[in-house]
Amino acid sequence: MAAAVHFHFHLFLLSTILSFSSLFSIDPENEALLKLKKSFATSDSLSSWVPNQNPCSSKWDGVICNKNVITNLHLSDKGLSGKIDIEALMQIPSLRSISLINNKFSGPMPEFNKLGALKAIYLTKNQFSGPIPSDFFSGLGSLKKIWISNNNFSGNIPDSLRKLKFLNELHLENNVFSGPVPEFDHDIKSLNMSNNKLQGAIPASMVKFGANSFSGNDELCGKPLDKDCDLEPKSGMSWTVKIIIIIVIAAVVAIAFIFMKSRRRINDDFSARSSENHNQNNRVNVVQVHVPSSDHNRGSEHSTKRGSESKKGSSRSGGMGDLIMLNDEKGVFGLPDLMKAAAEVLGNGGLGSAYKAAMANGMSVVVKRMREMNKVSRDIFDAEMRRFGRLRHPNILTPLAYHYRREEKLFVTEYMPKGSLLYVLHGDRGISHAELKWPTRLNIVKGIARGLGFLYSEFSSEDLPHGNLKSSNVLLTENYEPLLSDFAFHALINPSYSVQTMFAYKTPDYVQHQTISQKTDVYCLGIIILEMITGKFPSQYHSNGKGGTDVVHWVFTSICDRKEEDLIDPELKSNTSSHNQMLQLLQVGAACTESNPEQRLSMKEAIRRIEEIQV
Ligand SMILES: *[C@@H]1O[C@H](CO)[C@@H](O)[C@H](O)[C@H]1NC(C)=O
Ligand SMILES: *[C@@H]1O[C@H](CO)[C@@H](O)[C@H](O)[C@H]1NC(C)=O
Repeated sequence: MAAAVHFHFHLFLLSTILSFSSLFSIDPENEALLKLKKSFATSDSLSSWVPNQNPCSSKWDGVICNKNVITNLHLSDKGLSGKIDIEALMQIPSLRSISLINNKFSGPMPEFNKLGALKAIYLTKNQFSGPIPSDFFSGLGSLKKIWISNNNFSGNIPDSLRKLKFLNELHLENNVFSGPVPEFDHDIKSLNMSNNKLQGAIPASMVKFGANSFSGNDELCGKPLDKDCDLEPKSGMSWTVKIIIIIVIAAVVAIAFIFMKSRRRINDDFSARSSENHNQNNRVNVVQVHVPSSDHNRGSEHSTKRGSESKKGSSRSGGMGDLIMLNDEKGVFGLPDLMKAAAEVLGNGGLGSAYKAAMANGMSVVVKRMREMNKVSRDIFDAEMRRFGRLRHPNILTPLAYHYRREEKLFVTEYMPKGSLLYVLHGDRGISHAELKWPTRLNIVKGIARGLGFLYSEFSSEDLPHGNLKSSNVLLTENYEPLLSDFAFHALINPSYSVQTMFAYKTPDYVQHQTISQKTDVYCLGIIILEMITGKFPSQYHSNGKGGTDVVHWVFTSICDRKEEDLIDPELKSNTSSHNQMLQLLQVGAACTESNPEQRLSMKEAIRRIEEIQV
């Protein structure tokens, strides 16, 4: 379990789409990126950016694509400096997010305002300086996230920020901004203006962000800071100035109030739209993970404030907003670390969508959002999760942490760069497929069998000790050791949702006979065995049965016709000395996929017969 772990749900399908479309498209954006690279003074870290390649299909470092178009440039920590060729970036109309965090750029704010479709700008930890023009953001109406903290920006906070309707995250901390704290027309979820040179009273509507968002500004006063504006003894301001300020503030508040009232309908529209946007985000490959935090008194979806209040790391208190560590062998982290992580959508498969989250401490995890998991009470759920966290077996993926909300659970596991068995067998133009020689495949089947043996003793009273066994839920370590994931959820997931999503419910046991039993897992094991021997994508994995090969039927008829040799994956054929082993395993696979559960092997028998096969 040394290597990281990865859930690959439908990544296989996704990567097929990507590679297919890349065959048919030329890449007008290759040149634009090379121009951009040229504008950097140092670009050693971008050696993967070379001419005559499609940046998406060639996986250029830092270039994130969705369906073969570039959506994000993720150039954090690359030691970059020099100019940023905005004209070049303008040739990439699909670009939605740019991250240059922790580089060595300096000088004034680049003209990102020419990229009107941007949704996120991350410039944290550079040496940008000088004022930002007051109207800079007026052409950037889609912006949701602006992180320009830890630079040397000065002058007033640009007025145009206030009018960004979708702005959700604004981080200006650790700069030298001066002047007043602006008031925003709409609700921002995450805001930080700490450690600047801001002055004057904090507007009443901004109090809710808490002192942590304004500290380190010596000349700021009023709530939520401890410093009362009126009682400021050494204020050099004359009474007239104070009265004028008070009148101005009152007028601003009154105007804002009237303005807000007249905008209410628009804002209502926006809340509907914002959930839509959120879904769209899931389709873009890199997003900031929005880990919903506690909601016991407000329905607030992204209350970062609460997240950062929650105890960092291993919280045993089990408060509603916490991330509960189940297994700290790989390190301890908290909800705030996840919220700050750069995330990549891995897929929207089976039980929920999954993201890879690369945290600032260098650790990468997979966060899976699970819906419809309210079959048991919260206490029982917690007890079950802790039990999961104690599982230790070389072929079992032990979860790291979970987060509980009524509507949704987050399930955190280690990230595995190699991906799933499904992906290695069928994904990525079959490059890795050839790596899977016979001894490796046999070893994987044996590892799966051992993991199942363990689950069948740990969860022996369950109908489905695994319940969702398929090659996308078998992850591979660097050494091709298999790890079972997504197991034993049957007791936790709402029954109607299980029927829709778990692979056990796609088997003949359920489809034809409406029953499930421990023999159902045996059937699923059989599919994996046949998949590994034939090298074919089983049609059983498609919910509508369209596409792929009906491996069960094919194996059955070939065995009847005594043409078993035809079934063996051409990649394995050259290994003639092992054909007997292959045929032996094939028989086990066939006996596991008997459509009548009575005639099917038991799990115990299947494991015994797999172990019998000599490597
Ligand atoms: C930041 O700007 C100030 C002047 O505003 C200057 O004195 C200081 O050296 C700058 N710091 C960096 C790291 O560029
Ligand atoms: C704002 O930034 C400061 C300085 O980096 C940090 O100490 C503080 O915790 C941050 N506040 C919030 C609310 O994130």
